[in-house]
Amino acid sequence: MVSDNMNASSAIDFAWTLISTRQTILPRHLVQPGPNEEQIDLMFRAAAAAPDHGCICPWRFIRVPLDRREALAGAFEASLRERDASASAQQLEQAAEKARRSPFLCLAVARLGPAEPAIEPMERMVAVGAAIQNLLLLAHAMGYATSLTGGQGLQQAPLRNLFGLQEGEHAVCFINVGTATYAKPSTIRPEPSHFVDSL
Ligand SMILES: Cc1cc2nc3c(=O)[nH]c(=O)nc-3n(C[C@H](O)[C@H](O)[C@H](O)COP(=O)(O)O)c2cc1C
Repeated sequence: MVSDNMNASSAIDFAWTLISTRQTILPRHLVQPGPNEEQIDLMFRAAAAAPDHGCICPWRFIRVPLDRREALAGAFEASLRERDASASAQQLEQAAEKARRSPFLCLAVARLGPAEPAIEPMERMVAVGAAIQNLLLLAHAMGYATSLTGGQGLQQAPLRNLFGLQEGEHAVCFINVGTATYAKPSTIRPEPSHFVDSL
């Protein structure tokens, strides 16, 4: 229990502040410094603490170090070319530029193929989402800004090939972590009355 290590009201204050102040800061607003190796290890340990029915580890995270960003830029360009043969040089450059931004970048992958025990894909996706959120919250606790980014390119061959995704593996989103260049106004959240009912 958290409250064995912290008094109960500080634990609630801490958890609420952490959860309620996390916000998406898009990669174009993320700069160095990003997390160091020790911090990155802790972020992945936080991911591994997610609820995981059957303990099948239905996630995989593939880091994109700075020296592999040009390979990713090439895959983004190739994906755009596949979708739109008439894409302009400027549009191709914009697609490529997305690979170069975040100090820390990794691809979150859901493992939805055959597994033992056979946990439903929907349950596995819940576990993957929880793992991603744990990672985001830990990065946020360390003072970094974060975002998730997706896009059509994720399901295309250039990206799947670059990341060596196997059958049954689904690219979910990129995770971006770095230092925010600006303070974003706080986000208005839906009231529980909008999404909670009772039987
Ligand atoms: C799987 C996933 C993919 C996302 N991809 C994008 C994206 O490509 N571009 C973007 O602006 N936001 C993306 N988001 C972030 C959401 O837009 C964002 O979480 C939402 O607007 C709420 O803002 P908040 O994170 O500040 O609470 C993604 C979120 C998830 C869960």
